[in-house]
Amino acid sequence: MSTVKEQLIENLIEEDKTSQNKITIVGTGAVGMACAICILLKDLADELALVDVAVDKLKGEMMDLQHGSLFFNTSKIISGKDYSVSANSKLVIVTAGARQQEGESRLALVQRNVNIMKSIIPAIVHHSPDCKMLIVSNPVDVLTYVVWKLSGLPATRVIGSGCNLDSARFRYLIGEKLGVHPTSCHGWIIGEHGDSSVPLWSGVNVAGVALKTLDPKLGTDSEKDQWKNIHRQVVESAYEIIKLKGYTSWAIGLSVTDLVGSILKNLRRVHPVSTMVKIKWHPEGLHGILPHGQKDDLVRGRHCLSWSL
Ligand SMILES: *[C@@H]1O[C@H](CO)[C@@H](O)[C@H](O)[C@H]1NC(C)=O
Repeated sequence: MSTVKEQLIENLIEEDKTSQNKITIVGTGAVGMACAICILLKDLADELALVDVAVDKLKGEMMDLQHGSLFFNTSKIISGKDYSVSANSKLVIVTAGARQQEGESRLALVQRNVNIMKSIIPAIVHHSPDCKMLIVSNPVDVLTYVVWKLSGLPATRVIGSGCNLDSARFRYLIGEKLGVHPTSCHGWIIGEHGDSSVPLWSGVNVAGVALKTLDPKLGTDSEKDQWKNIHRQVVESAYEIIKLKGYTSWAIGLSVTDLVGSILKNLRRVHPVSTMVKIKWHPEGLHGILPHGQKDDLVRGRHCLSWSL
């Protein structure tokens, strides 16, 4: 007696089950899951894999997403503690690790998260040797360098989320101050993600009108509108949100998904990310910015404006 399925469906050719755009998210905390839902809703993956060590939480999150399948077009959502579920990924997003507690800086997390990267990166590369990696765990610039070293992948395939979120926050706050939508407020935050980030006041513009031409003191202490406070707010955002809700998730999820779209669709957009700069390619520094105090000829790009795929 054949089953209902057998009576209903006859496969004329063998189904090809290999996915073309598989994304794996390592870490199913608030950040990992915000990335997951944004990626699903933006239709960026044909398969999504979740990996975490907390197996109950992992299975719960997977089931909860699967039950939303009617509302998105990613037909396969899988999860597992073992990295074999990540096999054949195009992109692996790393959000795992300790996160900032109230009042704790990103840099204070470094040793704990380096140890965690040591336990996960070799397994990812083993199962997806051709993947690109997007590092989100903090301190993101340091960890991107560490992951690159651990992975053995070309530097061009290991990217950190860098200042993509800082710049988004900056543009939101500029927009609030001017009553203009953030997409029309242009501005860049570069350098290390977090406390020591650098706002580029010279580049802040609306429709090509540089605000600095309207007030040459823009961003300085002596300027009366105190635009400087906007950068201070960007730096303090994470601390404030952590104090209020315990963690940050939605904006980082959206900004990571913005990077995922650019990477997987090769959109050739420009983003402030953590990537590698070789001094010997740029003896004068890249765009006049010289990394200092580095003996190694490979230095962490703390100010990079773009990457090529
Ligand atoms: C899924 O595909 C359908 C049909 O092409 C489309 O109408 C819908 O917007 C898609 N949903 C998402 C989340 O991309």
